[in-house]
Amino acid sequence: MRLGTLARAARAGGIALAVFAAIVLAADTPALAQQGTAPEVASESPVDGLVPGNTLGGTSDTDFWRAVRQGEAGNVSIPDQKSATLVQSEGELWRSLRNGPIALYASWALLAIIVVLCLFFAIRGRIKIEHGRSDKTITRFAGVERFGHWLLASSFIILALTGLNVMYGRYVLMPVIGAEAFAWLTMIGKYLHNYLAFAFMAGLAMIFVMWVRHNLPDRTDIKWILQAGGLFSKHLHPPAKKFNAGQKMIFWLTILGGLSVSVSGWSLLFPYTTHFFGGTFEVVNSIFGTSLPTALSVLQEQQLATLWHSIMSVFLVCVIIAHIYIGSIGMEGAFDAMGSGEVDLNWAKEHHSLWVEEVLARQGEAGKSTTAPTPQPAE
Ligand code: HEM
Repeated sequence: MRLGTLARAARAGGIALAVFAAIVLAADTPALAQQGTAPEVASESPVDGLVPGNTLGGTSDTDFWRAVRQGEAGNVSIPDQKSATLVQSEGELWRSLRNGPIALYASWALLAIIVVLCLFFAIRGRIKIEHGRSDKTITRFAGVERFGHWLLASSFIILALTGLNVMYGRYVLMPVIGAEAFAWLTMIGKYLHNYLAFAFMAGLAMIFVMWVRHNLPDRTDIKWILQAGGLFSKHLHPPAKKFNAGQKMIFWLTILGGLSVSVSGWSLLFPYTTHFFGGTFEVVNSIFGTSLPTALSVLQEQQLATLWHSIMSVFLVCVIIAHIYIGSIGMEGAFDAMGSGEVDLNWAKEHHSLWVEEVLARQGEAGKSTTAPTPQPAE
């Protein structure tokens, strides 16, 4: 009921604005004001759809409004040139995509990943250290590596929650906590989302620099993939270096997905200043011979950026939910790697045997000149 009234008011307001703007546009729009014999205008008042001053010339009302409806831009004397376009149909398309299929499929994807993980947990249970905990540990991640990881992880989790609130909060949270509390929460969330984006980018850059060399694909990955990482068997422990093939996938999805979310997010942080999609489409066209539009208006750029940002973010959230599962309740001993940085030697041998050999060999070498015994006895 209220919505209907609002819609009618908005429509009436829109028509009034359109009439006003038509007057402004027609006064100085060569594309719209075509040549032709001007019809006689009896009065200066805008009655019967006539524009005062006869500035429409020979352009019929139908042609004029069709041009406006099709997004033709007029001229405005204020600095904001976007306001010269009265009707931008892509806005409606954007709205229906965002509130329709994107919101719907994103919620299905989130639900699906949670269901899959619950099923996996129900069937496989917690992946145990097969040979039990030893009395020795080995250093897996240095302090700076853990700092980079947690900078990335904590900012990402807040970004994900505040972003999902923008998408679903009004349907999920608002009915529970009320409109006023929801408004406050969303406003705080928006600031967190805007500023923590920089922490996320910094964390992403840190882990890229620190871990990229360990995440280049190599021959050991093939065996790991063929044995599905031993995830479905209690006694299978395919050899792996510092990161196994599954972790390499997570790493690259995080880096590339994170980059994509950051770049599209940058467009949203600094609206109407970027032309990333036009530029990207140009490259895509030149590689694949497609004919994607490259001369996009700043508004179209903005609309594409928000759509892409939501799609990529939800995709990344799904990937990271799986990662968090395996790094915490899904696998015994895994969390220690990012908690204290020290992992149990048996855990390390079962999941990263080649890496353990490398570390021990390196320390054996070093031990010849220094006294650096490793592994360390567990506390
Ligand atoms: C509570 C949340 C999280 C937990 C418990 C967690 C846990 C872990 C653990 C234990 C490792 C080391 C695994 C090993 O020793 O090999 C790790 C690595 C990693 N984490 Fe997280 N993490 C969390 C959130 C995140 C988030 C939000 C991101 C990215 C946005 C992320 C990205 C990574 C990446 C790229 C790696 C290296 C590759 C890999 O091990 O999969 N983590 N995490």
